[in-house]
Amino acid sequence: MDQMLNSQKEDCKDTNVETNNNPLDVLDHYRNIADKYDYFYKEVHQGYIPILMKCLDLKPEHVVADIGSGTGAIAKDLFEVSGLHNPIWCVDPSVEMQEIARQKKGVNSILKTAEEFFSNPQISERFDRVIATISAHHFVNADAVFEGILCSLRPGGFFLQFNAIKSTLPSFKSAKMLLSQCFKRESEVRDLLQRKIGLSAKISEKEFSFSAEIKKSKLYERYRCRFVSLFQKLSDDQIEEGIIELDNEHFQNVGDDELIKYECTVLVTKVEKVA
Ligand SMILES: C[S@@+](CC[C@H](N)C(=O)[O-])C[C@H]1O[C@@H](n2cnc3c(N)ncnc32)[C@H](O)[C@@H]1O
Repeated sequence: MDQMLNSQKEDCKDTNVETNNNPLDVLDHYRNIADKYDYFYKEVHQGYIPILMKCLDLKPEHVVADIGSGTGAIAKDLFEVSGLHNPIWCVDPSVEMQEIARQKKGVNSILKTAEEFFSNPQISERFDRVIATISAHHFVNADAVFEGILCSLRPGGFFLQFNAIKSTLPSFKSAKMLLSQCFKRESEVRDLLQRKIGLSAKISEKEFSFSAEIKKSKLYERYRCRFVSLFQKLSDDQIEEGIIELDNEHFQNVGDDELIKYECTVLVTKVEKVA
């Protein structure tokens, strides 16, 4: 455990910044985590793809945009599984996340915030599908983004917003508090969506669950590297104390390489453009 702890601390040493969650800090966060992002979110992405495939009803000729697309992991899988003819427009302001995305097949990388991207009138009626998976809580001007998304949809097109809302994976107290802030922000963004474009669109919500598993060593490494942007608010000491709390309460008898099984629930909000 000590050896694992030291090497994980070394790997994550650049991420120890105590900040607020303003847009600059968000970019700092993704700069620090970009090279480990796909590894940290692998189980989550594997759970999302079948749900996305079910909800998106993709046809090869569809033109798709992924907003806050990160490392393009979702776009790559969707492109491959659905046999799209066109690469997916992957919009994300993080240089480091986009560097990784650009290396993937099926990704058309666009280094912009959602706000910048949707302020361009030329993207009017360009897309059959627009998705935002666990990224809408970062939109700074969410109402303008939602109006832009609606404008960018072709007749019959729709927008899907994916929010993680529940997980049975235990966490420590201070992390749980920050995660609940993140969930609250996501629900505020969904309310805004309803208020802003509820009259010009049909909005529906559905929950989906999937099973996942993660090694104990990887679970602790994710905390040490602050895999969620709000965890920047935790100091190294708070994270180590939290891991001890978690270990004592839940995982004392679990080996570092043992898999911990858990269930995740996502809320999928579908916004259909009405004529
Ligand atoms: C939690 S990651 C999600 C990445 C990917 N969608 C996924 O499911 O793994 C959030 C992404 O939102 C991006 N982001 C932050 N602010 C944004 C903004 N204003 N507009 C669009 N994307 C933004 C970040 O750079 C980051 O890559």
